[in-house]
Amino acid sequence: MTDVTDPLLPELLRLAQDAARRAGELLRDGRPADLAVAATKSSPIDVVTEMDIAAEKLITDVISEQRPDDGFLGEEGASSEGTSGIRWVVDPLDGTVNYLYGLPTWSVSIAAERDGERIVGVVAAPMRGETYHAVLGGGAWATGAWEGERRLAVRPAPPLDQALVSTGFNYVAEVKAHQAEVARRLIPLLRDIRRGGSAAVDLCDVAAGRLDGYYERGLNAWDVAAGDLIAREAGALTGGRPGEAPSRDLTVAGTPGVFEPLQRHLETFGAWHD
Ligand code: IPD
Ligand code: CA
Ligand code: CA
Repeated sequence: MTDVTDPLLPELLRLAQDAARRAGELLRDGRPADLAVAATKSSPIDVVTEMDIAAEKLITDVISEQRPDDGFLGEEGASSEGTSGIRWVVDPLDGTVNYLYGLPTWSVSIAAERDGERIVGVVAAPMRGETYHAVLGGGAWATGAWEGERRLAVRPAPPLDQALVSTGFNYVAEVKAHQAEVARRLIPLLRDIRRGGSAAVDLCDVAAGRLDGYYERGLNAWDVAAGDLIAREAGALTGGRPGEAPSRDLTVAGTPGVFEPLQRHLETFGAWHD
């Protein structure tokens, strides 16, 4: 059980906030006008820019300088075990396609795990001027264009047919085709659907009551590590297939009352496979 008075928690939180702020400023202020694709990953549309790589380096440098014994799992290659029991799970730029096109929905996502349990999550969304954070057991909070910190809470659940639910689509065409089929069956059961382009922001929007739910197949640990903790600390339920934790197969988040029917429909529609 995590002790919320443990002084390590605010130390890790402050470090994650500092690294996320600095990476966010680098990404926002340093975006070249002629930003180009540096490499591709799972498919030709799964892109990496020089800025993803620079942001991950900045984050790992900032954290390692203070805590040299911690481990890392970063999307752009950071991978080390560490010896302290703390591991940082980092998506330096979540929403790269939006960033490439100059759309504002992108974020920096940094989580800390202790012995495999997520204890700190920070998601910075610089173009919104907002940053979301949570410590296990301490609630979810946001800073922005207002004084101090604002506590995040999910919105009261509407009936599913009045729920606004976000999702995302994979970079691999075959996976996307099946995801489109799942969305086709789900849309008539909902108020509407959104495709924001940053999984971390989607999860924080559930936390902030800006969405009733969110689901996606094919996510990696760095996409959800921070946002999942923030959503749960704001009162959301999160999971994967029924009875399972969020995984690459499926991530579902929602306010209680929306989460359960959403997860049930996704199971019926086979949202976790082709
Ligand atoms: C992507 C975003 C997107 C989601 C994709 C992710 P990236 O992350 O979170 O919203 O739909 O599945 O891969 O590639 O921009 O870090
Ligand atoms: Ca991502
Ligand atoms: Ca990324």
